[in-house]
Amino acid sequence: MIIITVVAIIVLIFGLVVFRGAPYLPSHASEVEAAFTNLYPLTPGDMLIDVGSGDGIILRLAAKHGARATGYEINPILVGVSWLLSRGNRLIRTELADFWRKELPPEVTIVYAFSISRDTSSLMKKLQQESDRLAKPLTLMTYGASLEHKKAVKKRRGHHLYLFTPLQEEKA
Ligand SMILES: C[S@@+](CC[C@H](N)C(=O)[O-])C[C@H]1O[C@@H](n2cnc3c(N)ncnc32)[C@H](O)[C@@H]1O
Repeated sequence: MIIITVVAIIVLIFGLVVFRGAPYLPSHASEVEAAFTNLYPLTPGDMLIDVGSGDGIILRLAAKHGARATGYEINPILVGVSWLLSRGNRLIRTELADFWRKELPPEVTIVYAFSISRDTSSLMKKLQQESDRLAKPLTLMTYGASLEHKKAVKKRRGHHLYLFTPLQEEKA
């Protein structure tokens, strides 16, 4: 009975996530590695945010390039897994958080999102808002679903790269 209850809770936690974003499915590591090398060569000067960081694979790949990497993950089980797999790596942080409710840190340079088509408009709005608020350009790398209403500056297989620049404040 206890096992059934535990399994039901785990299934529920993984299932409920779909109301807030993409369900758990890890990016293909070799594809990401190629994207971090050729599409957007990550450097130690970068600070990457992974929107829904799952088991933290993106964070660990980013850290291999010397970049700082923070993951926001809504599923507490995956936050634990990510923490365990990334422990000891000072470049990596994993936060139990709903991305839509987070303000990005001022040091962010690139946001990574393996999302679903349903969320691409909200993602685009969020990136523009954050670029405006921080008054700095932000790069978004998507995997899987691409943005419908914005032109990618570069792409490679399943990865697309977008640039968000702060909108000029209208003069009164
Ligand atoms: C498709 S997986 C991507 C995992 C990882 N980024 C990768 O590329 O391998 C999406 C992840 O986002 C998480 N997620 C969904 N909605 C979220 C939200 N609103 N805030 C934070 N994490 C979310 C899910 O729990 C899942 O782990």
